[in-house]
Amino acid sequence: MNIEKLKADPRMPKHIAFIVDGNGRWAKKRHLIRSLGHKAGFDNLKQQIEFVETLGIKNLSMFCFSCENWKRPQDEVDYLMDLFNQMLDEFKRDYLDRDIRVIISGDMNDERIPAEVRTKAKEIMALTSHKTGFVINACINYGGRQEILKVANELLKEGAQKVDEKTFEKHLYTADLLPLDFVIRTSGEQRLSNFMTWQSTYSEWYFPKTFWPSFTKKDLIKALKVYMKRDRRFGAIKK
Ligand code: IPE
Ligand code: MG
Repeated sequence: MNIEKLKADPRMPKHIAFIVDGNGRWAKKRHLIRSLGHKAGFDNLKQQIEFVETLGIKNLSMFCFSCENWKRPQDEVDYLMDLFNQMLDEFKRDYLDRDIRVIISGDMNDERIPAEVRTKAKEIMALTSHKTGFVINACINYGGRQEILKVANELLKEGAQKVDEKTFEKHLYTADLLPLDFVIRTSGEQRLSNFMTWQSTYSEWYFPKTFWPSFTKKDLIKALKVYMKRDRRFGAIKK
């Protein structure tokens, strides 16, 4: 795999996203409890973050926990919150002295999230807000519709009368990110599931069958090659 050649390719996406799906099924297939699937998924996420950065992709969004995931059994939710707690500790340990910005998209004032996680999320965002390099956008307690409503409510509070796309986008969690080029949802499910509703209107989608914990660097390269062959016209016609 020639990373340098890939990195230099002008067709490479600038902002990609992972909808990490299939952790539970990955565990079930191995006769393990679901939590072990989440643990494996989390370990893979760390590897993938590093790899995406190495590839020179500027922004990486990751759907870690949706507003709808609260419907899951409490012990599974608790386990995921513990993983996010650990993830935020590791972000702080590993990224503070690098040119990496961390954004947490989602309602971090929701009291269902452990206070420790909310505090650490706000802290890492504040500590890295001045960085101009690679951006990691972890979506936790996130929903695309909820985000749009958040924007609408902020605009109402400001007393806005008429809003254009640019003004609207300034209120999104992704205000400082580049347009979302490519979304990869693992495990074979072909749905958007309330992910980045506003941002994904012109994204390219890719649905590999692999469960997230088994999604490798090689699989990502394969996905990127598929993306680079796509003809993106944004509603226009080909020149
Ligand atoms: C994705 O894996 C992880 C989260 C939603 C946090 P799933 O837990 O959805 O795994 P499956 O779909 O049950 O296999
Ligand atoms: Mg799932």
